[in-house]
Amino acid sequence: MALKDTKARYGQVSRLLHWGIALLIIWQFLSAAAHFFFDETAIEAFFWPTHKPVGVLILLLMSVRVVWALVNMANRPSAVSLISRLGHFTLYAFLLAIPTVALLRQYGSGRSFEPFGIPLFSGFEGEKIQWMIDLGSLLHSTLGWILLAFIIGHIGMVFWHKYSTKGENVLPRMWGRDDK
Ligand code: HEM
Ligand code: HEM
Repeated sequence: MALKDTKARYGQVSRLLHWGIALLIIWQFLSAAAHFFFDETAIEAFFWPTHKPVGVLILLLMSVRVVWALVNMANRPSAVSLISRLGHFTLYAFLLAIPTVALLRQYGSGRSFEPFGIPLFSGFEGEKIQWMIDLGSLLHSTLGWILLAFIIGHIGMVFWHKYSTKGENVLPRMWGRDDK
């Protein structure tokens, strides 16, 4: 299979990014759910420390994915409808915005931040940057849970297209080789 996309299916790089990021997102929601439902339990102690570093990794991979999508723009499978195009665009927008507002909040707090031990912010003395903290607190978790609903919708639509007599099966574009 080709590295780059074609009109018939996504290539190896797009698939690796799609499925790799999907796995990280599942992990990310496990850690978010552990924080929300199992506060101060061993479950939270296990998952929650990974939330910030994995979130940064998702942002990094999403940035690569945006560049790769632009490189392949003229030569990837066409969206089956306007709704599907808008849905995919929304997933991109959420996956960039959610970690970005969290990083802004992290920066604004003035605390140092070292995801996977790599120094990203050194922190600063003095006043916190309140608008950054407020923006993150207003948007991060709300957009995060809305994203989960969009992802469930996305998976639902893939299977609707597969099993409905009206829809076109789009699964082979992203998974496996047998076409239609
Ligand atoms: C795509 C990446 C990310 C997703 C999908 C995501 C999702 C979520 C969700 C759904 C919550 C709500 C949990 C609750 O209600 O208790 C949450 C909370 C939180 N996240 Fe993330 N997150 C991501 C990246 C990040 C990053 C990069 C950071 C930090 C640099 C971060 C820091 C936090 C913090 C501190 C909270 C608890 C405070 C709050 O509810 O806003 N997250 N995240
Ligand atoms: C878990 C998080 C997931 C996210 C964030 C996500 C996101 C996306 C995005 C943005 C696209 C557009 C193509 C691209 O630019 O890469 C896409 C396509 C696709 N995804 Fe997902 N996806 C997820 C999970 C899944 C799962 C679990 C399935 C399988 C059931 C799936 C099946 C597909 C298929 C078949 C396409 C191609 C659709 C088409 O070309 O019309 N995705 N996905």
